[in-house]
Amino acid sequence: AKDELILAFESSCDETSVAVVKNGDVILSNIIATQINSHKRFGGVVPEVASRHHVEEITMIIDDALTEAGVSYDDLDAVAVTYGPGLVGSLLVGVEAAKTLAWAHHLPLIPVNHMAGHIYAAAFVQKLEYPLLALMVSGGHTELVMLTAPGEFSIIGETRDDAAGEAYDKVGRVLGITYPAGKEIDRLAHIGKDTFHFPRAMSDSDNLDFSFSGLKSAFINTKHHADQLGETLSREDLAASFQAAVVDVLVEKTMHALAMHPVKQLVVAGGVAANQGLREALSARLAVDMPDVEMIVPPLRLCGDNGAMVGAAAHIMRAKHVFADETLNANPNLNF
Ligand code: KG4
Ligand code: ZN
Repeated sequence: AKDELILAFESSCDETSVAVVKNGDVILSNIIATQINSHKRFGGVVPEVASRHHVEEITMIIDDALTEAGVSYDDLDAVAVTYGPGLVGSLLVGVEAAKTLAWAHHLPLIPVNHMAGHIYAAAFVQKLEYPLLALMVSGGHTELVMLTAPGEFSIIGETRDDAAGEAYDKVGRVLGITYPAGKEIDRLAHIGKDTFHFPRAMSDSDNLDFSFSGLKSAFINTKHHADQLGETLSREDLAASFQAAVVDVLVEKTMHALAMHPVKQLVVAGGVAANQGLREALSARLAVDMPDVEMIVPPLRLCGDNGAMVGAAAHIMRAKHVFADETLNANPNLNF
């Protein structure tokens, strides 16, 4: 059969990205323009600044993605786009661009859920087998998602307050680390030791929900208390203690979910999946307690927001005949 080529757009937050994906698992191009430097001085993503950057960048990025892939519009089978969840003004830039191109070149339009995109980034690493469990950990979401079949998602656990990445970024601010703080805290954590023993919100039993606000408060109180006493705490030990608590909870809940819902594969997805401590702890624990479960973690570049992951998810949606027309709108609160 002829190869399937999908042009995929991602603009839900602070990355503008366009990719060309072949057959759902080969990346022909994946151009990513990050706006992080524009948001850093504000300590987080400023929505108006984000949408303006997307508008300025997107046309050039589309050209770059097609050129790098060596593909023209005539070769394409579909255009795909993230339509939620995310910042509405940012999402709209991708949605309008994708709609316009689909219409102009008579191509089908495939609507993609951003979280489905993160999960399907795993398709570039390994052939996926169902049912599978995904630990979705990003700046906006922390969820355990069961996939009973391709493109069939159900959330079996989620955070009741902060997302894991959000907790990293808030704690980072207290340590004077610029947004996004996850990577730097991860680095410091590997130098320090868990000396503070911050609380782990496990609420044991059969509960698969997460909570990180107690940990965040404990961290902030410890730091402020020391500041008031004029004491200097080790940044490395603070980072290590925070990360140990986050990782413990993520690993424990994931193992619990695997015990309740037997699967062959565990996909770790989203920006926080880049965390070295999490990767190490999860794979070590699986090796001991669930050696038959295969862990799949996308390479670092595919953990953060990117167009290729949208193309991979779109491949699944195309097979399920999920298409949109020119009435497609951004949905900032989209869920599975
Ligand atoms: O998935 P993503 O790129 O954007 C959202 O959809 O939210 O995730 C961004 C989040 C940020 O909170 C960032 O601090 C976090 O991922 N992050 C990390 C690491 N790299 C990025 N958190 C922990 N450890 C990392 N190495
Ligand atoms: Zn994301």
